[in-house]
Amino acid sequence: MNYTFCLKAYAKINLGLKVLRQRADGYHDLESVMQQVSLADTLVFEPAAGRGCNFFCTDPRLSGHDNLVSRAAVLLQNKHGKKLPGVKITLYKNIPVEAGLAGGSADAAAALLGLNRFWQLALPKSELLEAGAELGSDVPFCLQGGTALAGGRGERLQELPPLPFFWAVIAIPENEAMSTAAAYNSFDKRKMGEPPLEPLVEAISKQDKQKITGWLARGFTNTLETAIEPRSSKLKGLKKRLANAGFSPVISGSGPAVFILTEQWRDARDAARAAEQEGSRAYLCWVTSGNKEW
Ligand code: C5P
Repeated sequence: MNYTFCLKAYAKINLGLKVLRQRADGYHDLESVMQQVSLADTLVFEPAAGRGCNFFCTDPRLSGHDNLVSRAAVLLQNKHGKKLPGVKITLYKNIPVEAGLAGGSADAAAALLGLNRFWQLALPKSELLEAGAELGSDVPFCLQGGTALAGGRGERLQELPPLPFFWAVIAIPENEAMSTAAAYNSFDKRKMGEPPLEPLVEAISKQDKQKITGWLARGFTNTLETAIEPRSSKLKGLKKRLANAGFSPVISGSGPAVFILTEQWRDARDAARAAEQEGSRAYLCWVTSGNKEW
């Protein structure tokens, strides 16, 4: 009963991110409030001749065996037998790459969910989350979606109440990218343990929109911003342009994507225009709630 279907792979933003310490395995323990947004890639699953997974991407630079989608397929094949029916996965890429939006992790999460369905593996949520953590620190969150407080290296999740509705404008300076590893290598170690996330978690628990936006406007929301912001004049220009237009842009993850949240569509439109006038790419989307697959 193999059939063709498609899944969306949603991007994430970090409403706050605090790096706590470096670990012996090279990773960093962190605390982060993660939020899924409607900006998404699309993965199409269809039957193919032979066995295993053929993977294609609309962005040729991302095709191939290294892609987390291919690696998700190999991981499931190794665990559950190599004689699984042939599947072709096409990834229609939309989320900017190396932007701090977990685009690759979102694709890996969608691949795990889609292959679980296509190959009729019936793996429970716990096993998919475990497989996700093997592929990358953000993959478990991308599987779960919604709003969560992440711990460990990002893979330990505590679900938070869904964020109240906000438009999200995500903006990225043209031709800027930063790998996660580079950001963790170069952030300011003196800022480790900052910023405190408790007020943000409390504001979300109380569904207090004003306190949520107030927290985002506080300035320093993400330890990793110290890795990218001082090195990118384009990013500084983008943040300044948005601030001059009355918004409080915040860096997502390892950047260089920044986002603003607003209740008003007109404000969202104006923020997107301001970012584009600065020569950046802008995406107008909204915050979304958790995965309905389970
Ligand atoms: O887990 P993921 O493959 O996304 O991580 C990519 C790189 O980012 C890691 O190899 C590591 O250098 C860095 N990283 C880290 N601490 C984390 C997550 C990622 O140091 N919590």
